[in-house]
Amino acid sequence: MATKAPIWEHRGEQKRLAVQQMFAEIAPSYDRVNGIMSLSLHRRWREAAVKQLQLSQGATAIDLCSGTGDFAAPLRRAVGATGRVLATDFCLPMLVQAEQKGESDLCATGDATRLPLVGDIADGVTVGWGIRNVPDIDAAHHEAFRILRPGGAFVSLDMAIPQNAVVRRISHFLFSTVVPTLGRLIGRAEAYRYLPESTERFMTREQLVDSMHRAGFTEIIWKDFMFGNICLHFGRKPAVSA
Ligand SMILES: C[S@@+](CC[C@H](N)C(=O)[O-])C[C@H]1O[C@@H](n2cnc3c(N)ncnc32)[C@H](O)[C@@H]1O
Repeated sequence: MATKAPIWEHRGEQKRLAVQQMFAEIAPSYDRVNGIMSLSLHRRWREAAVKQLQLSQGATAIDLCSGTGDFAAPLRRAVGATGRVLATDFCLPMLVQAEQKGESDLCATGDATRLPLVGDIADGVTVGWGIRNVPDIDAAHHEAFRILRPGGAFVSLDMAIPQNAVVRRISHFLFSTVVPTLGRLIGRAEAYRYLPESTERFMTREQLVDSMHRAGFTEIIWKDFMFGNICLHFGRKPAVSA
């Protein structure tokens, strides 16, 4: 009898659909579990990511793979009441949670690899823990680049493998035991095995830099948080196209 492959082994369109369904199932508990797993530190990392964008009051910010919209509040503080904050995600149940928080001017469904947005309208683009989930990371970076105005900036936060061997071993132990246990407790075992498994299979810091280069970004830097378990990637769209 054929057994179904786990989500982290899916590729292409199969991965897209499996990821979409997984987030639809965990949407109601996502914020609670995220808060527990990150010890609520995700708020600080988001603040740091938004600060990196150096957005002005009145600017337009777009959050891709926005999920329950936790990037919207720091983005709102950065762009002010005259600015615009747009949230987009391909999973409606996650977006509904974002909409309820009321920080975004617009929540729209959209796939990060083929955004339903015409032209370069954003001064800043954020992605939180989203890039790892898309089947085509190059396409997502290209789309982020495309919707940015010349001079605009992109920042992505995601899981990473710690560079220090001791930290890596401790983190691997915690992520492969505590996180799936938490998942089992809320009845979502596979979804929370997906986190460590997809992190193990994710691009390295350097591969992400290369992908961002291919998309056209310049001034690319990365910065680690939480002992290298979280990594921020930043890039800028050149003010004048080469
Ligand atoms: C781990 S959650 C992160 C949510 C949110 N960005 C945050 O920082 O908490 C990943 C989100 O990416 C979305 N996502 C995954 N693949 C996507 C794609 N191809 N296009 C748009 N959204 C996608 C999922 O629906 C989910 O809401």
